[in-house]
Amino acid sequence: MTTRRPIYLDCDTGIDDALALAYLLASPLASVVGIGTVSGNVSAAVGARNTLDLLALAGAADVPVALGANDPLAASFHGGAPWVHGSNGVGEVELPASGASLAAESAAAMLVRLARAYTGELRVVAIGPLTNIARALELEPSLVQSVTIMGGAALAPGSITPVAEANIWHDPEAAALVLAADWDVTLVPLDVTMASVLEETHRQALLASSAPVPRALGEMLAYYFRFYEGIYGRPCSAMHDPLAAALAVGAVKAALAPVVHAAVDTSDGPGRGQTVCDMRGLYAGYPPVKGARCRVVLSLEDDFGPHLVETLLGHFEGTTAALAEAGSVA
Ligand code: RIB
Ligand code: CA
Repeated sequence: MTTRRPIYLDCDTGIDDALALAYLLASPLASVVGIGTVSGNVSAAVGARNTLDLLALAGAADVPVALGANDPLAASFHGGAPWVHGSNGVGEVELPASGASLAAESAAAMLVRLARAYTGELRVVAIGPLTNIARALELEPSLVQSVTIMGGAALAPGSITPVAEANIWHDPEAAALVLAADWDVTLVPLDVTMASVLEETHRQALLASSAPVPRALGEMLAYYFRFYEGIYGRPCSAMHDPLAAALAVGAVKAALAPVVHAAVDTSDGPGRGQTVCDMRGLYAGYPPVKGARCRVVLSLEDDFGPHLVETLLGHFEGTTAALAEAGSVA
C-alpha cells in the first residue's frame, strides 16, 4: 500500500515546472495539497495562470493555487526568461483557460497554514526562486518541514552566470535565509539535473499519447528543446524540476548525496547567487560533517527520463480512458 505524501509545490510555471506539476499529479506517492507561484521564468501572475490551466487540463482544478511574490526580497522582478520558456511560460502552447480562481491567501500564508495542518508530514518542493519560502519563514520562524529545492550548483558550473543557477540567482537573499534556517534541506543542483536529459524519443512518446496532458507537455518541450540544443548539441533538455519532485516523493533515489554545509553568496560581485557548498569531503568519500544540514544530490541510481514518461503516460492515459468509458470526455 503506497502512502501519498502531502506536497506544497512552489513554482514559477515554466515548462519544466509544468512537467514537475504533472508528474506530482500522476505519482502514487504524492498528494498536491497546495501550490504557490513566484516570479522567475515568468511573473508570479503568469505562472499562476499557467498552473491553473494545467490543473484544469489534468482534472485537478480542486488543488488550491496561491499567488506569491512578484519581486525578490531585495530587487525587482527582472522580466522572466522568454528565450527559454516562451513569452507565456509554456512554450507558446495555448492551454484551455481554467475557470478556477486563485486562493485568497498569499503563497507564504498558504505554506504556513499547510505546515500547521499537516504537522511534520508536509513536503515542500521548491522549484522556483525561494522568495515565498523565505517569506513563510518570516511568518513562522519555527516552520520545520521536509524541503526539497531545485537550485544551485555544487561542483558544476552555474547557468545564468558562470557560478549561479537561475532559481538562486533570482533571489540570493531568500535562498540564503532558506539554507540557513533550522531545517534539513535536500538541494537538487545543476550537478544532477544537467546530467538527467530528456531525449526526443521521450518527447515523441508524450506527443503520441491519447491523453491531453502528456501531449501538451510534448508540445511545450519543443520550445524547451530548441533552447537546450544550443547547450547539448542535440534536441533534448535537462529535467530540473520534475527530477526535484521525484526525489522529494522518494520515487527516485540518489546514488551520491553528501550532507554538507551550504551558504549563498549575496554579494554584488561576480559570485552573486552562487551556492557555496563545502564539498572538501570529496577526496575522502564525504565523511559525516558535524552540524551540516544540506543534502546535495550529485547523482542518481537510475536514469530518470523513462520513469518520468512512464509515470505521466500511465496515469493520464489511464484517467483519460476511464473518463471516456464513463462518457465524460468529449
Ligand atoms: O535552473 C533551472 C531552474 O530555473 C528550473 O526551476 C527552471 O524552471 C528555472 O526556474
Ligand atoms: Ca522552475
